[in-house]
Amino acid sequence: MRTGLLVLFLAALLPAHAGAPEAPTPIVIAHRGASGLRPEHTLAAYELAIAQGADYLEPDLVMTRDGVLIARHENEISTTTDVASRPEFAARRTTKTIDGKKVTGWFTEDFTLAELKTLRVRERLPQLRRDSATYDGQFTIPTLEEILQLLRRRQKETGRVTGLYPETKHPSYFRQIGLPMEEKLAALLHRYGYRGRNAPVFIQSFEVANLKRLRQITDLPLVQLLDERGQPYDFQVAGDSRTYADLATPQGLAQIATYAQGIGPAKGLILPRDPTGRWKAPTTLVTDAHAAGLKVHPWTFRDEKMFLPADCPDAVAEIRRFLQLGVDGVFTDFPATAVRARNSLQKMP
Ligand code: G3P
Ligand code: CA
Repeated sequence: MRTGLLVLFLAALLPAHAGAPEAPTPIVIAHRGASGLRPEHTLAAYELAIAQGADYLEPDLVMTRDGVLIARHENEISTTTDVASRPEFAARRTTKTIDGKKVTGWFTEDFTLAELKTLRVRERLPQLRRDSATYDGQFTIPTLEEILQLLRRRQKETGRVTGLYPETKHPSYFRQIGLPMEEKLAALLHRYGYRGRNAPVFIQSFEVANLKRLRQITDLPLVQLLDERGQPYDFQVAGDSRTYADLATPQGLAQIATYAQGIGPAKGLILPRDPTGRWKAPTTLVTDAHAAGLKVHPWTFRDEKMFLPADCPDAVAEIRRFLQLGVDGVFTDFPATAVRARNSLQKMP
């Protein structure tokens, strides 16, 4: 084989991101895409996030009846699609118990991918995000594979790698109904060339057992999500009384470090607010997590005033405060804002 042909052949075997420069830190994670500006979890929201300079795209993942991973925040889809107005699917409305809570609506696991592809996506918060709501009806639900293909395409066009930060939603529930997610997720990521601790991917979950299961089947980086209250659903099922607060202690973080590379805490676990909405003193979570060797990626930063602390002038200032506390990345609905906040700090003497 001639040298030129050999080089082309070897390049085709490499993952699309091989040899590409690492993302700047702290990283900007596009939460459900640029979901402040386009209906969440659409290719349009992900494309805009890439254009705005996001380092990672965050798809939440659920399963279809025929076992395909798709991007939705919930398996109940009436708040983000037009399913409720489709007479052909009226009989699929039902009530289920999901993670211990009764939920009524239409569920992804009751539809094939082909059926779901006939639906059109809607803005979740049309009163708040009126511009985004003008895109209602234009987009379909993407599969994880379509998102991976988008990332490949954009990297070929721009030479820039954008990573992937998928979250397994309701993993115990899906396993229990015969649609386990972990093996399919790992296999698909491996097939697209994501391998090893330095791959541009973080797999996240609010549950613990499924991250431990993933650790058995992949070397990819894992992130334990931590909420401000409650406990992982799989702990509840197993009768384990530990809470997210327990996992956020130095002992809990040391346990997380045995299977994960980072934590994704609710931002109030780092900077709590008082009853008037003002910031209280920061907790020690960032330093404790770093001491355990864990990265820290808090969620979720949003531009709208209603989400900001009472004593914070704007969304750039809020993100800057967290970056100054040493977080390694932020989940945001508005990637351009986080890029601005990061740039403003890097320009400081
Ligand atoms: O995954 C981080 C953050 O997205 C967790 O919250 O509910 O938006 O998936 P949620
Ligand atoms: Ca998420």
